[in-house]
Amino acid sequence: MNYNDFNLLNQNIVYLDNGATTLKPKVLSEAISDYYNNYSANAHRGDYDMSLKVDTMYEKTRTLVKELINAKSEKEIVFTSGATDSLNKIILGYAKNILNEEDEVLITKAEHASNILPWFELSDQIGIKVKYINLTDDYKVTLDNVKKSITAKTKIISLAHITNVVGDVRPLEEIIEYAHKNNILVIVDGAQAVAHKPVDVQKLDIDFLAFSAHKMCGPTGVGVLYGKEELLKNMMPIILGGGMNASFEEDSTRVYSELPHRFEAGTPNIAGVIGFGRVLEYLLDIGMEKINNYEQELRKYAISKLKKNNNLIIYNENSESGIITFNYHNVFSQDLAIYLNKYNICVRAGNHCAKILKNEIGVKNTCRVSLYFYNTKDDIDKLVDALNNENLINEII
Ligand code: ALA
Repeated sequence: MNYNDFNLLNQNIVYLDNGATTLKPKVLSEAISDYYNNYSANAHRGDYDMSLKVDTMYEKTRTLVKELINAKSEKEIVFTSGATDSLNKIILGYAKNILNEEDEVLITKAEHASNILPWFELSDQIGIKVKYINLTDDYKVTLDNVKKSITAKTKIISLAHITNVVGDVRPLEEIIEYAHKNNILVIVDGAQAVAHKPVDVQKLDIDFLAFSAHKMCGPTGVGVLYGKEELLKNMMPIILGGGMNASFEEDSTRVYSELPHRFEAGTPNIAGVIGFGRVLEYLLDIGMEKINNYEQELRKYAISKLKKNNNLIIYNENSESGIITFNYHNVFSQDLAIYLNKYNICVRAGNHCAKILKNEIGVKNTCRVSLYFYNTKDDIDKLVDALNNENLINEII
């Protein structure tokens, strides 16, 4: 699918590290280069034609993001530097102001560092309790286990939609419905989900959502913070400066800009946002449902082949995303990744920033294959052949 749209796909490379970042289609660099070469003014500051063009293109991306996740309004879409930045802004700019000592926040041990460390900070700063929802034997979150973790003090549940190591898809709709009935807010880390499947914030009734452009063919340094308008109105901007205020006086009286601009202080990553917009057109043209279906098929194909290799321990055979995590008996995960690199196969090895997941899966480091719509059965066959190589151990030593 779309093989010729990506320079790197014509260079004898098997790229299976899409959970870390995806490859970029040519339309991205064309759009970025067009901005830098032909209309490289600042955004939201000028009164001349070139600057107005920048505003139009920048805001067009916001509208495309709104369409992608079916937000109610552009006011609910804030550009950040990535999912990590978005989560930090939500947790330190919103959660911090509504939580009190002893209030409880529910997460899991499978979360990424960016959905754990800011909570640990809040725990130190204001005395909240961070609690873990139990995972099932195949590392999934069930509504039952969520219910068991909730107490009268639970105020927030903060979960990845799809986790970055185990790749399980969380049953968000039922969790959020139950959470809201109990006045609990739900924050969703969408970094591994929004790129791969339709995510409808209104249908799921998500309160806050964070994701990154670079995990969906876009540029690095651009992310999205979605929040319901009524919640964003009560979120504190934690980065202050130009572009986010309407006025301020020497006695410190000040008025911050309307949503969403009060959360975008300073000159933003204009080229990146414009490039992201072009990429969103590209993805929407393909269709997120189609991308999801294709990845599911490819995953099934990969699992059926990998399962035949008795040297492999697959940790997430029953997950539903394009993430497959495994180890090779008696081989350190990083050594395996370096071995695969000899065959131009790119995978990620290590703890994948989910450093307390080891307490659930019993192993610190794993190899991870993460698929995207431009991967093919041929890519999987090359991976499987390399892993089936009878000389593998010798080649590693
Ligand atoms: N969070 C990214 C990953 O899972 C970097 O690889």
